[in-house]
Amino acid sequence: MTDQEAFLDERRRARRFFNRMSPLYLIVERHLFPQYRDVLARLALSPELSVLDLAAGTGLLAGAFAERGHTVAGLDFAYKLLNRARKRFPGVYFRYLDLRHLDRIESGAYDLVSMGYFLHGLSPEFRRFILWETARIARTNVLIFDYGCDGGLFIRFIEWIEGPNYPLFIAEDRERELGKAGLRIDREERVSDFGSYWLCTPPSRRSASSAHGAREELAASE
Ligand SMILES: C[S@@+](CC[C@H](N)C(=O)[O-])C[C@H]1O[C@@H](n2cnc3c(N)ncnc32)[C@H](O)[C@@H]1O
Repeated sequence: MTDQEAFLDERRRARRFFNRMSPLYLIVERHLFPQYRDVLARLALSPELSVLDLAAGTGLLAGAFAERGHTVAGLDFAYKLLNRARKRFPGVYFRYLDLRHLDRIESGAYDLVSMGYFLHGLSPEFRRFILWETARIARTNVLIFDYGCDGGLFIRFIEWIEGPNYPLFIAEDRERELGKAGLRIDREERVSDFGSYWLCTPPSRRSASSAHGAREELAASE
C-alpha cells in the first residue's frame, strides 16, 4: 500500500468509526457540552466574532458558540453526527467537508476557528496541515480543545480503537507545535482530568510560501 493509499484508508476508517460511534456519543456529549459552555462563558469573547468549527461532530462546540450569539458554521465528514447536529442546533450552518480539503476555504474567512477533540486523532502531518490552514483562515482567534495530558488506560483504549495517532499527539510539545503554525498561545487551561483548551492568536500576516509548504508536505504524505 502506498503512503497515499494508507492515508486515505485511515481517513475512511475514521469516518466509519465516528458514524458507528454516533449512538454512544450521547455519553460524550453529557461531559463535553457543559465544559464548552463554561469555558466560553469564562472567555467572554465578543459575540460579533464569526466562528468556523472544524470537525463539529454533533455540534456541541458550534452550538455553545451559537448560544452566545455568534454566527457559526460547522464542518465534518460523519453524516450521522452532522444530522444530529442540524436537528439540535438549527441556528448553525453545518456542512459536509472532509477537512483534507480545508484549503478550499478562503484566507481570513472567519474571525475565529475552533475545534474540539479533533487533533489527537490525526497523523502529525495532517495535524500540521490543519493547524496551518486554521491559522490562515482565522482572522483573530483560534480555540482548540483536546487532551492536555494522557487520559489513562480507558481513554488509551478508546483512542486505540479510533486509530494510531493519540500517543504521538500526547507526546508532542503543544506550544512548539502550535508555534510552528504561527499560532501564539494567549491562554491555556486544564478543564477536566485530561482535557485542556488553548486560545491562540493567528499571525496577522502569513507568508504564502509557508502555508504552501505545509500543503505540499501533506500532499507528499498522502
Ligand atoms: C472526537 S469527535 C469531536 C466532535 C466535536 N468536535 C465534539 O467536540 O463533540 C472528532 C470529529 O472529527 C471528525 N473528523 C475526523 N476526521 C475528519 C476529516 N478528515 N474531515 C472532517 N471531519 C473529520 C469526526 O467525524 C468527528 O466528528
